[in-house]
Amino acid sequence: MPSFLSSKFAALEAYVPGEQPRDKAYIKLNTNESPYPPAPGVLDVISREAVSDLRLYSDPTCLATRRAIAKRYGVGVENVLVSNGSDESLNFLFMGFTEPGAVFADITYGFYKVFGDLYGIPYTVIPLNDDFTIPVEKFCEAKGTMFIANPNAPTGIALTTAQIEMLLQSDPNRLVVVDEAYVDFGGETVVPLIEKYDNLAVVQTFSKSRSLAGARLGFTIAPAPIIAAMETLRYSTNPYNVNRLTLLAGTAAMEDESYFQKNRQAIIDARAWTKAQLEARSFTVTDSMTNFLFAATDRLDGGELYAALKDKGVLVRHFTSARICQYNRITVGTMAEMETLVEKIDEIFAEKGV
Ligand SMILES: Cc1ncc(COP(=O)(O)O)c(C=O)c1O
Repeated sequence: MPSFLSSKFAALEAYVPGEQPRDKAYIKLNTNESPYPPAPGVLDVISREAVSDLRLYSDPTCLATRRAIAKRYGVGVENVLVSNGSDESLNFLFMGFTEPGAVFADITYGFYKVFGDLYGIPYTVIPLNDDFTIPVEKFCEAKGTMFIANPNAPTGIALTTAQIEMLLQSDPNRLVVVDEAYVDFGGETVVPLIEKYDNLAVVQTFSKSRSLAGARLGFTIAPAPIIAAMETLRYSTNPYNVNRLTLLAGTAAMEDESYFQKNRQAIIDARAWTKAQLEARSFTVTDSMTNFLFAATDRLDGGELYAALKDKGVLVRHFTSARICQYNRITVGTMAEMETLVEKIDEIFAEKGV
């Protein structure tokens, strides 16, 4: 049977999300979700009345949520676009802002390549340095709209604001997209730089530090002309891209600063503890500024460790590409989850006699 799919998509390799197995209960450390529930205010706004209002379309201007984000980051409402997860912000940026091509790292968020292929964009892939840091000079020299995850994923390593400024200054006529999905766990946000640079778009998400991965809410903060252009794409694809309950949840989550601060600090503390434990067991662990650790050991093959942990009910993310196949990416969960992870690693090493 023919699929009728346009031939230009025939060879498209879709993004592969982290596995969500249902066969048993796992300690889920594979997709960088928060181990903590959304802010208490979120539970309050998802009322029977709010659910009953689902018969109505959502506010296409997403105004209340944009106001809450604008207030939190000290920018104007005209500087904020909200999207169905930050993936949708990235989608708009690849769809409409890549006429000069795109530039991204070889080891970074896998969706950049998928979007590049989806839209047939010529892209340049720049290898990370041997220590997995970003070669800033090479990025400065490359042509095309730049997509930088900062901190990077899956390495967890962050660039400084001064380094991002070098990228912005390398060509004022080139757009630099800084994907700050993980910035709340120790990186420096460059949102304040939108005042100074016309060529900056910052993408963030509610999925990680605000515990709303399942609600699908992300946003872009950028100079007003960039946001207005993104809005044209949004209204040309789906003006009701964010549903009513998610808008309510997002506004409530953004307004609860103390809950946000408490949870991000708990993750940072659990990360430090886990990193030290892994290093004490001879793991090499990158200097992560995110809610995950990127770790490898000579004692056991990365894929084998992943499989043995899965057998013992702990799910981590293993990548098969050559440069990083010895590594696993481990989401930072609660302290209790991290203690179990370390226990299971000890059991695995003992069982394998390594
Ligand atoms: C670097 C990076 N950017 C963006 C996203 C997309 O997140 P979401 O669409 O849930 O906001 C992810 C998800 O894991 C990510 O790792």
